Amino acid sequence: MMPESDYVVELEGVRKVYRGGIEALAGISLKVPRGCLYGLLGPNGAGKSTLVKILTTLIRRTGGGGTMLGCPIGDRRALQRIGLLPEHARFPDYLTGRQVIEFAAGLQDVGVSETRERTGRLLDLVGMSRAADRKVRGYSKGMKQRIGIAQALVNDPEIVFLDEPTDGVDPAGRRDFRLLMKQLREEGRTVFINTHILSELEPIVDRVAIISQGRLLGEGQLDDLRTEKPVYRIEFEGQLPSELVAVLQAEGGEISPGFVAMETSRVGDIQVLIDRLRAAQIVISGIQRKAQSLEDLFMGLVDSPVNRSRSSSPSVPTPSIPK
Ligand SMILES: Nc1ncnc2c1ncn2[C@@H]1O[C@H](COP(=O)(O)OP(=O)(O)OP(=O)(O)O)[C@@H](O)[C@H]1O
Ligand SMILES: [Mg+2]
Repeated sequence: MMPESDYVVELEGVRKVYRGGIEALAGISLKVPRGCLYGLLGPNGAGKSTLVKILTTLIRRTGGGGTMLGCPIGDRRALQRIGLLPEHARFPDYLTGRQVIEFAAGLQDVGVSETRERTGRLLDLVGMSRAADRKVRGYSKGMKQRIGIAQALVNDPEIVFLDEPTDGVDPAGRRDFRLLMKQLREEGRTVFINTHILSELEPIVDRVAIISQGRLLGEGQLDDLRTEKPVYRIEFEGQLPSELVAVLQAEGGEISPGFVAMETSRVGDIQVLIDRLRAAQIVISGIQRKAQSLEDLFMGLVDSPVNRSRSSSPSVPTPSIPK
């Protein structure tokens, strides 16, 4: 084992070429800090599930390497310390929800009394206590996903991999899911989520990696990835005297009826506008900040000419060209 670092996953140039020549990953390098909520985003077929399957040793990489929890990628010893909700997870439908969790505990060598205690707690955590003793066969899609998340946590994992966890989950369930993700992070776990539902992740995620056609297009904290500055809107009551309008414009404010707007990444810039408004006895009724959404960011990267040219330029191999 190698010494453990602040990163639970470190990848360098990870490649995957499936049998038949499909290049699903074309060299992915990234680091996942311990204790963060990490979002792996990308359109259908980008390679998200492939990457998670490599990390969880379900498939082997073709090239590159790295470590997870100090073990080389592909080393099964790390599996005891991670949890996984696979894509399109299917559990034996003759088992009850409780039995699915107990079965996962058995596979992970969790002791009998611990299993009993944890199963009860996890069923509660995912809101499935009442349906715990019904067979999976009779569960809705969202109920199956909830049990899937619970079974991924039964070994008290340091990293939880969730591949499209909110697939089929209703709006209330999605809100519960966001709260649950925050709770897992507060417990010190690293949560790694694959998704293409961006709005879901935006309010909770610490870092994102955006991939398309097996390539990393961007990685980092949302604020650092944003290419546009946030827009602040200072709402006021009444009319502004014309001298004040001139002063605010000179400070960089754009005046509209009822609000002054400013595009800036420094919150200090808007304090000047607030000071000028207050000095003129203007009542401020609200302040809003609107940042570039994750969806805008995503579309900007995935639709960029550089990324699109990969699929049309004959000089660059595309994932569909057999090697
Ligand atoms: N077992 C396999 N054999 C051959 N090709 C595969 C296999 N699994 C995935 N692929 C291909 O690898 C590429 C990446 O697939 P992957 O499932 O990793 O994408 P994804 O980002 O998870 O997509 P989605 O959002 O649809 O789940 C796709 O082109 C897919 O067709
Ligand atoms: Mg997938």
